[in-house]
Amino acid sequence: KENGQLAGKRVLVTAGGTVERLDPVRYLTNDSSGKMGFAIAEAANVMGAEVTVIAGRTSVDAPAGVTVVRVESAQQMLDAVLERFDQSDIVVKSAAVADYRPVTTHGQKIKKSGETLTLELEKTTDILQTLGGRKKHQFLIGFAAETEQLEKYAMDKLTRKNCDLIVGNDVSQDGAGFNGDTNIVQLFGPSGLIEAMPMLSKRETAQRILVIAAQRIAEGTAN
Ligand code: PMT
Repeated sequence: KENGQLAGKRVLVTAGGTVERLDPVRYLTNDSSGKMGFAIAEAANVMGAEVTVIAGRTSVDAPAGVTVVRVESAQQMLDAVLERFDQSDIVVKSAAVADYRPVTTHGQKIKKSGETLTLELEKTTDILQTLGGRKKHQFLIGFAAETEQLEKYAMDKLTRKNCDLIVGNDVSQDGAGFNGDTNIVQLFGPSGLIEAMPMLSKRETAQRILVIAAQRIAEGTAN
């Protein structure tokens, strides 16, 4: 581990989907399996880092050799990430975080009544944007899951959320995005596209992202 490219670095990764409760048996979530985030965590561990994963709802096992902290909601993920942010060197936000949550979480199961039911949702805190506002020495890697205009939206997120790298993920492509074992991503830095990767396993995708991150950290450049 000592010879790894990320030896001595503390890496914080988020993985999986958040769960926003409506009542004790129902919730809002998304299709994230945790595979991409866990692949990042595993690759960082292999490269010698000390890795903590903040994991929401996932459908696969976490890799060995990393610390796993389980959370449900976007708020819990925010709290868990903030608790560890100051002590982290690299933060990778691969989780699919709810943008909205129910205004009310009912203590009892919602009873069936009228013909329609309207749910009122409110915005969650954007974790990545919060980190971007607070970052000091940290190298911040965000994701952008998009179904159109990948470069435009990814670069917009990079700037707005003050990231060092953004992993642009066109989730409408076959073999990319949620749930599967492969991904197709484009990596962007502050100066634009760094690499458009072909379809690769999530493991290989993770390795390539972290190799580029390690190089940039070693060079002390964010461009
Ligand atoms: O888990 P898998 O099944 O392997 O799927 C992988 C993946 C598709 C989930 C992953 O590759 C991916 O794209 N993750 C980001 C999903 C997402 O929420 O993207 P977004 O474009 O909505 O958000 C942009 C960034 O802001 C992300 O880094 C996200 O973690 C972050 N965010 C979003 C909302 C919020 N409230 N807080 C955040 O931190």
